[in-house]
Amino acid sequence: MPNLKIVGICGSLRKESSNRKLLSLTLDLFAKKNCTVEFLDLKKLMLPLFDEDVMNEGTPENAKYIGQQIREAQALIVANPEYNGSVSGPLKNAVDWISVAKNPFKDKVIGLIGTSTGWWGASKSLIHARAIFTHLGGIVVPSQLALPQSEQNLINGQLKQESHQKMLDSVVNDVLRFSEKFR
Ligand SMILES: Cc1cc2nc3c(=O)[nH]c(=O)nc-3n(C[C@H](O)[C@H](O)[C@H](O)COP(=O)(O)O)c2cc1C
Repeated sequence: MPNLKIVGICGSLRKESSNRKLLSLTLDLFAKKNCTVEFLDLKKLMLPLFDEDVMNEGTPENAKYIGQQIREAQALIVANPEYNGSVSGPLKNAVDWISVAKNPFKDKVIGLIGTSTGWWGASKSLIHARAIFTHLGGIVVPSQLALPQSEQNLINGQLKQESHQKMLDSVVNDVLRFSEKFR
């Protein structure tokens, strides 16, 4: 498999975030397939609350940086926590900022994963994330992983159930397949 660059962002800023662990596991799978991977940490690359007045004074450097990393990558993986039935505030805020820095999401292959402590595993958040990234012109791959009950199903950064591992493998394979097609 040729060397592809895959970047990941996580909508949870929490140090012990289960989504960050799931993203890390996913990026490791890409690395094993000879991809170059990079985690774009929204906690370190802090962005102000989106405000068009601030935007008119200039796009924050971190938004430009994240946008450039996404532009240089063949694919983006987004790890989605779920807050009140939708994507996290930090993720939406980051997407709004990044989208005004020459929208790097357009024509970008995007894989969605997510987990929560609940029974439905961030599935509502993933529906909204799919709508947002499709709106931005992204090529969101069909497969996704909505991992329920993260405290039982993701232990020491590893998936406990084979069915969940298979779903994650499908996301990785779809992202690689689409990335090759749209390269
Ligand atoms: C304000 C708030 C709202 C939440 N809403 C939902 C929800 O709608 N659905 C869900 O499955 N979990 C919900 N949760 C639980 C989070 O998904 C859970 O804390 C998850 O572990 C956060 O992701 P992280 O581990 O990556 O930080 C909510 C948590 C908080 C604090």
